[in-house]
Amino acid sequence: MSQLVVGGISELFLVRESGATELLTDAAFIVENGVFAWIGKDSDLSVARTIDCKKRAVIPGFVDSHTHLIFAGDRVSEFEARMAGNPYEAGGIMSTVRATRAASDEELFDLYKKRVQEMLRNGITSFETKSGYGLSVKEELRSLKIASKLTDEVTVLAAHVVPTEYQDKRSEYVKLVMEDILPEAREYASWVDVFCDEGAFTIEETRAILKAATTMGYKKRLHANQLKAGDGVKLGIEMGCVSIEHCSHLGSEDIAVLSESDVVVTLLPIAEFSTRSAYPNARALLDAGVNVALSTDCNPGSSYSSSMSFAIALAVREMRMTPSEALKAATFMGAKALEREDIGAIALGKRADFLILDAPSHAHIAYRPGVDLIAEVFKAGELVLDKGM
Ligand code: NIG
Ligand code: FE
Repeated sequence: MSQLVVGGISELFLVRESGATELLTDAAFIVENGVFAWIGKDSDLSVARTIDCKKRAVIPGFVDSHTHLIFAGDRVSEFEARMAGNPYEAGGIMSTVRATRAASDEELFDLYKKRVQEMLRNGITSFETKSGYGLSVKEELRSLKIASKLTDEVTVLAAHVVPTEYQDKRSEYVKLVMEDILPEAREYASWVDVFCDEGAFTIEETRAILKAATTMGYKKRLHANQLKAGDGVKLGIEMGCVSIEHCSHLGSEDIAVLSESDVVVTLLPIAEFSTRSAYPNARALLDAGVNVALSTDCNPGSSYSSSMSFAIALAVREMRMTPSEALKAATFMGAKALEREDIGAIALGKRADFLILDAPSHAHIAYRPGVDLIAEVFKAGELVLDKGM
């Protein structure tokens, strides 16, 4: 049996089964065979410590439940134009589609791997990623196959935008997604997603795609209400989506239906930051009892960042979440958004994915924006990264 005994923790961030967060000070825990086997006060430890955290905080590894990592090229000139006053538009996606189609399998995989390593340095120990820059049967399958090499949480987002070659025959593209891409993509992807918004897919198209995906056994998630208000949130609930993502434009009716459901609303504040848009109303969601997750949305168009710490800092500063609400959203709720009960919290029986911070409390993540506080990263009780801090 492999055993790891971690003590000297100034503050251990816990989320109870009820969802309540708890900060255990002067804490310790024991990992056995990769899972948390004992959690308690350091003074109650009856065995020798393998690791002394020296009065630093320990938090769960981040769970990034919304990323778009399979792409080539960048869109830095689009970003510069946006900072000079241009709005973000879904149409920019096609420029990444062209660059992605032009890249070889090796190039795409190497770019992906580099991004995953960057995420690990930022404390992300589990992640979801999607296709959506291929937009043909062959190219979507290629992206999904590459995605599945580094994560089990793969999403087919063939309905990202209607590609240029189908501009005058969009119903044919929707048919291609439902009849050709989704059935084959099931080999690599367990999730389906649709960008239901202005310049992307309509409510009717989204409903048809999600219905078809349901018959194929996909779990469902949705990009909705990012660019404008509409019926995307209501449709997501009607169709049984596990998570509805972005939700930057919500009305009181949306919040009311969300609060009556168990759906997760995944907020992506780096997208608002990078597109200079208004942040979603996280406070109204939380106060209504809605499950709120936070993710990076790492993608070349609207949010080219793999920093969950930055997402947390924005959630606290710009969306009035408390530091502990934001951290729970980036861990426990990220796992819920992926229907994963084995990860996302420091709790008995869960996989021992955790981070030792170079700080005495979790609140320092938001308090010290832009500063790397992730000292050591552990996955299933194994040290996978030590920055020597
Ligand atoms: O989540 N909104 C749709 N998709 C991405 C942006 C994709 C892109 O601009 O390349 C997002 O923000
Ligand atoms: Fe996205």
